[in-house]
Amino acid sequence: MFRRTSLLGAALLALTWLSTFALGAPSAGCGRSTNLRNQAYSVNVNGRNRQYMLRIPNNYDQNRPYRIIYLWHPRGGSMQKIVNGEDPNRGGILPYHGLVPHANESAIFVVPEGLNQGWANMNNEDTAFFDRLVETVESQLCVDTSLRFSTGFSWGGGMSFALACARPKMMRAISVLSGGLLSGCQGGTEPVAYYGQHGTRDSVLNVGMGRQLRDQFVRNNGCQRPSFEPQPNGGRSVRTDYQGCLPDKPVVWVIHDGDHNPSQVDAGSNTPFAPKNTWDFFAQFQPQ
Ligand SMILES: *[C@@H]1O[C@H](CO)[C@@H](O)[C@H](O)[C@H]1NC(C)=O
Repeated sequence: MFRRTSLLGAALLALTWLSTFALGAPSAGCGRSTNLRNQAYSVNVNGRNRQYMLRIPNNYDQNRPYRIIYLWHPRGGSMQKIVNGEDPNRGGILPYHGLVPHANESAIFVVPEGLNQGWANMNNEDTAFFDRLVETVESQLCVDTSLRFSTGFSWGGGMSFALACARPKMMRAISVLSGGLLSGCQGGTEPVAYYGQHGTRDSVLNVGMGRQLRDQFVRNNGCQRPSFEPQPNGGRSVRTDYQGCLPDKPVVWVIHDGDHNPSQVDAGSNTPFAPKNTWDFFAQFQPQ
């Protein structure tokens, strides 16, 4: 009897242990105190100093594996302009693309600074920068490495796309706002959950460029292609959830009738739809 009880106890303990630790992939930074703050830092990447800024959740808990979002600025932008936001008359970029209120202190943000204000990713130097950031930040902060995300507008979308191509296993999902093939695509054959949005009147990166990126992950993710190309409904955006995608590899596409704009709103609304769409897309993923 004693034996049976202790076996049962051991099994229960094992189950408890499994349910506590088996899900999620805590980074080396979990359980460690940190000196990192919400400020600019630099790392050396192939002999160059590269800058980035951090936003760490209020009441950061070193034992809680957080979601982490890498957020790449557009051409001519900067990490500071992502952190502070930009004059709506000059592109209308919300601070952190409007994600902070949605994240409700449940995500760490990493905002890198491009060379020459962009992400040409020459010889994969920006992919290497990303690798260094993962190493550096995630060894000092507690991150669930199964909940790593990337997003950006325009060239920042192109950079997120490049990472989905080159680092598919590191990226749970990406969100590409009015992006194009601007930072290359090494590899690019593996599935990554994909959110994209683009305007039919985009005067900087034609909507066809956004569709091209989307279609690569429609294919990679094994989704069915609809028989027609979704169009906006006048001033309202139209959302398409692709069907038949591999488990955990959804593709969502939002087409609107606007220009090159990360803060596009629907007719009759004052609220840009990108922030909630991106957050909801990322938040559906659970630790694994
Ligand atoms: C934000 O998170 C806190 C703590 O986890 C929770 O109590 C609160 O309800 C959340 N707020 C929203 C708007 O989700």
